[in-house]
Amino acid sequence: MGIGSTLAKVADASLDRTVLLGYTRVGAGLRAAWWPADPEPGALEGRRVLVTGGNSGIGRAAAVGYLRLGATVHLLGRNQAKVAATVADLRSVVPSGEVVGETCDVGDLDDVRQWSAGLLARVDRLDAVLHNAGTMTGDRRETSPQGHELTLAVHVLGPHLMTSLLGAALLASEAPSVVWMSSGGMYGARLHADDADDIEYRTGPYDGVRAYARTKRMQVVLAQEWARRTAEHPVLFASMHPGWAATPGVSEHLPRFERLTRPLLRTPEEGADTAVWLVATRPDSRPPHFWHDRAQRPVVFPGQRPPQAEAVRRLAEHVTDATGAPFVL
Ligand SMILES: NC(=O)c1ccc[n+]([C@@H]2O[C@H](COP(=O)([O-])OP(=O)(O)OC[C@H]3O[C@@H](n4cnc5c(N)ncnc54)[C@H](OP(=O)(O)O)[C@@H]3O)[C@@H](O)[C@H]2O)c1
Repeated sequence: MGIGSTLAKVADASLDRTVLLGYTRVGAGLRAAWWPADPEPGALEGRRVLVTGGNSGIGRAAAVGYLRLGATVHLLGRNQAKVAATVADLRSVVPSGEVVGETCDVGDLDDVRQWSAGLLARVDRLDAVLHNAGTMTGDRRETSPQGHELTLAVHVLGPHLMTSLLGAALLASEAPSVVWMSSGGMYGARLHADDADDIEYRTGPYDGVRAYARTKRMQVVLAQEWARRTAEHPVLFASMHPGWAATPGVSEHLPRFERLTRPLLRTPEEGADTAVWLVATRPDSRPPHFWHDRAQRPVVFPGQRPPQAEAVRRLAEHVTDATGAPFVL
């Protein structure tokens, strides 16, 4: 390793530790000087990519990135009128791109079943899924139509069920990828025995930010479990965090944070960069398969204890029971 790349590695790791610099546009700007090359033009020609939560923010930016690389994008949102408007908008932004609107509430397991069956009837191959749809509740516990805690349903249960149901179409691809858009907020949540006792967050005072961080941690664990349990298949299972990007989600759910950090926030495109790069380049990935700014990152901060194996096992069991879907493609 040359001195240049050693320095780059040190600088890169330091940015991770100094969250403020690493997560903002400063981190993206500096790392772009040494991170791996952009995907080749046309890298996704002939590929079919599903983006959930594609109507705004990072999901919309990722959809544009995939379209520009030649993919057909299935853009999924829960509101049909919004989806139609975004599809029209994307067709004007990337006139050569092929974009298909999809309507499904990923937090509603019945809707996920119905929509997935419909997609499988229309396409025989799917090359990538970006599980990007995300939400944050207030300080009142909300539930999904099936009675699951809402962020668990949207971030974990729905994406898990969708992955399992779309497995046949993913396996028909030569180079399949499934990526979860997690959050750096997941560092604030552990997955230990007491967390596994209360996966549905029923006890104690409910805190929407904590619910978000817990389920973002679960997404990281889930991606790793999918990779481990389906290692016989060539699917790249990964999770990532986008840093801090200026999006409608941040303005709506974290207005104070947005006001304080506004000049430093990344653009949605910068937030989406690694999701586009991962799918287009399919780099080698090692456990725990967690990425940020085109590099694998640790899933715990120094001194923090990693998720406990027993808690991971119980989370996987809960997810399987709640959805009826095993970790099988
Ligand atoms: N921006 C950041 O700094 C940041 C940081 C860390 C992680 N993230 C993650 O990045 C992802 C995108 O967030 P964003 O910042 O771009 O926010 P955003 O603009 O609010 O995008 C979230 C998208 O998810 C959709 N969505 C929410 N619940 C859904 C459901 N049940 N079914 C289908 N779609 C649903 C929303 O649709 P509606 O318009 O219908 O609500 C919206 O289009 C999220 O997973 C978020 O946790 C963002």
